[in-house]
Amino acid sequence: MKTFAVIGNPIAHSRSPEIHAKFAAQTDIALHYDKILAPLDGFVQTVCDFFSAGGSGLNITVPFKEQAFEQSAILTDRAQAARAVNTLWMAEGKLHGDNTDGAGLVNAIQALGWPLMGRRILILGAGGATRGVVLPLAQAGATEIVIANRTLSRAEALLADLAGFVKTAQLKAIALGELRGHFDLIINATSASLAGDDLILPASLTFDYAYEMAYGKPSSFIDQAKARGVPTADGLGMLIGQAAEAYYVWHGVRPDLVNFKLG
Ligand code: ATR
Repeated sequence: MKTFAVIGNPIAHSRSPEIHAKFAAQTDIALHYDKILAPLDGFVQTVCDFFSAGGSGLNITVPFKEQAFEQSAILTDRAQAARAVNTLWMAEGKLHGDNTDGAGLVNAIQALGWPLMGRRILILGAGGATRGVVLPLAQAGATEIVIANRTLSRAEALLADLAGFVKTAQLKAIALGELRGHFDLIINATSASLAGDDLILPASLTFDYAYEMAYGKPSSFIDQAKARGVPTADGLGMLIGQAAEAYYVWHGVRPDLVNFKLG
């Protein structure tokens, strides 16, 4: 039976084994999926040991995604744009790295039935979370993507980095304080809710759908969107979506997400 695992530190909380086991049951594929705690200074050795023992594929989570990117001999475009890797496998003796986080967000949004094609999207934040999703959102048909950040220079630097990858959407950077106008979809990719901070959305900013990338934490972003009567979702769908995309990379089969429920 093929063996897969997720590596992180910490890792006890990971829901990936449960998600992949459900996909396996749904698609009738036999597999084994573990959690592996790597020492903070022992990521590379842990990856080598896994593949030497005949492992087929790894998911990578915090804090090792950048190291996984550096270790990969072959990278997909979306992993290069993200500069981070969450999915590894060996082929022809080489370590291949992909990043399915952005596609996971797209999968989640599409499973909700929210439109992306031809839409204007606003992303709050300019860190790693934003970097990973811009190219997949553009590939899903968004025509304009605005990155708004508290520190404008960081949004501008990210935009300059991503410009070489994103050919089909117009990219803009603005300061969080300058936000106004209407967007089809607004995505919170800041770490504000993880840090327990409030993020105040100005009344002059309007939107049809609101996606919070974090999950399992109170979110002032979601509260404000709900108060305006806007449909909302949190990042659990993105977690399931990135797992579905990794599943597709490894097995060539797409799990059904519309009817997918975690226990
Ligand atoms: P990640 O990899 O999760 O994206 P990160 O690289 O630390 O994490 O980036 C965190 C993002 O959240 C940044 O865009 C940060 O804004 P700054 O670049 O100005 O620091 C944003 N952020 C964090 N807390 C915030 C808050 N309370 N209000 C607004 N933005 C916040």
